[in-house]
Amino acid sequence: MSLFLALFALSGTFLDTVQGTLEMMQFKNFIAQFNKTYASNEEFKHRFLIFQRNMEEAKHLQREERGTAQYGVTKFSDLTDEEFLRCRLDHRAYFESQSFLRQVTEKDAPLKTCDWRKKGVISAAKNQGSCCSCWAFAAVGNIEAQWGIQGTAKNLSVQQLVDCCKSTCGCKGGYPWNAFMTVIKLGGLTGEDKYKYTGKKGTCKNNLKPEATIQDLVILERNETVICSHVSYKGTVTVAINQALLKQYIKGVIDPRPENCHHHKVDHVVLIVGFSRERKYWILKNSWGDNWGEKGFFRLRLGSNACGIAEYPVSAIVNTGTFKRHLCPP
Ligand SMILES: *[C@@H]1O[C@H](CO)[C@@H](O)[C@H](O)[C@H]1NC(C)=O
Ligand SMILES: *[C@@H]1O[C@H](CO)[C@@H](O)[C@H](O)[C@H]1NC(C)=O
Ligand SMILES: *[C@@H]1O[C@H](CO)[C@@H](O)[C@H](O)[C@H]1NC(C)=O
Repeated sequence: MSLFLALFALSGTFLDTVQGTLEMMQFKNFIAQFNKTYASNEEFKHRFLIFQRNMEEAKHLQREERGTAQYGVTKFSDLTDEEFLRCRLDHRAYFESQSFLRQVTEKDAPLKTCDWRKKGVISAAKNQGSCCSCWAFAAVGNIEAQWGIQGTAKNLSVQQLVDCCKSTCGCKGGYPWNAFMTVIKLGGLTGEDKYKYTGKKGTCKNNLKPEATIQDLVILERNETVICSHVSYKGTVTVAINQALLKQYIKGVIDPRPENCHHHKVDHVVLIVGFSRERKYWILKNSWGDNWGEKGFFRLRLGSNACGIAEYPVSAIVNTGTFKRHLCPP
């Protein structure tokens, strides 16, 4: 009996050690892959513990997952949830701050599949860095795509929005409608090459020649079919989502249980660039660089208001004078 217990205890320790060694190898690969440096041995040990906890969490998500998403090592795997959610927007403020927006609906039936990237109007995914400017990237992406769809591709300045917006915004997080209203007040945005992204709030330069203007902004009906129609014929849509599952996301279609990604707790802003109604997913552009997710993009289940994607669909209205219906490439 005691021999059995001793063997049992021994094998338990042995397995723990093997597990620990595997995780250490995984951690060292992670450090190499994402070029991480830690100031001290203590910091290294601390980050390894967090990494191990994140791997547990990723395994848990994988078990709970109903779709085809893969969770695991990402560039955020050495961060605590608190560190990762540093840029979280206050979802309650969303409910209070958008009531003045004009709501529109779409009558045309949506296309079956759509991917605006195939038209060359969606630039590579950018990296917001340590500045909480997701709202500005998702708004500028929306304006760039609409100009591109109507025939004039643009690279517009995100930094101008970060510097020139008023009230809750800058590097402290913000709202896409605030971004669009700032563009209207500025009389348009200048080019990215003339006002480069620094990732810090700076002094507003509003004397640069605008390269793209917008006429209006709208909020779409909270209905995924309506959003599909808008994306099918008019262009991208800026949305707020709950980012809970993005920290551990590697690739595939996120199909969350509602309790794992509550639709009211929207805290991050991204851009819808396409969808497949056949395979039931949205294609979204993030602002965490191209070394996250599917080259900086990700996919989310369509049809179940997953992670609150249908809560705040907004878009700028760009009318360059030659407005006509455009078909999104399948
Ligand atoms: C890795 O990080 C170091 C120090 O931060 C930096 O000097 C180097 O350029 C980085 N290398 C790559 C490939 O990003
Ligand atoms: C926008 O920037 C990208 C990357 O630098 C470049 O390839 C593209 O040609 C630019 N587009 C325009 C319209 O300037
Ligand atoms: C969403 O919009 C479509 C198209 O207008 C409509 O057929 C459908 O009933 C709407 N769904 C809800 C839940 O309102």
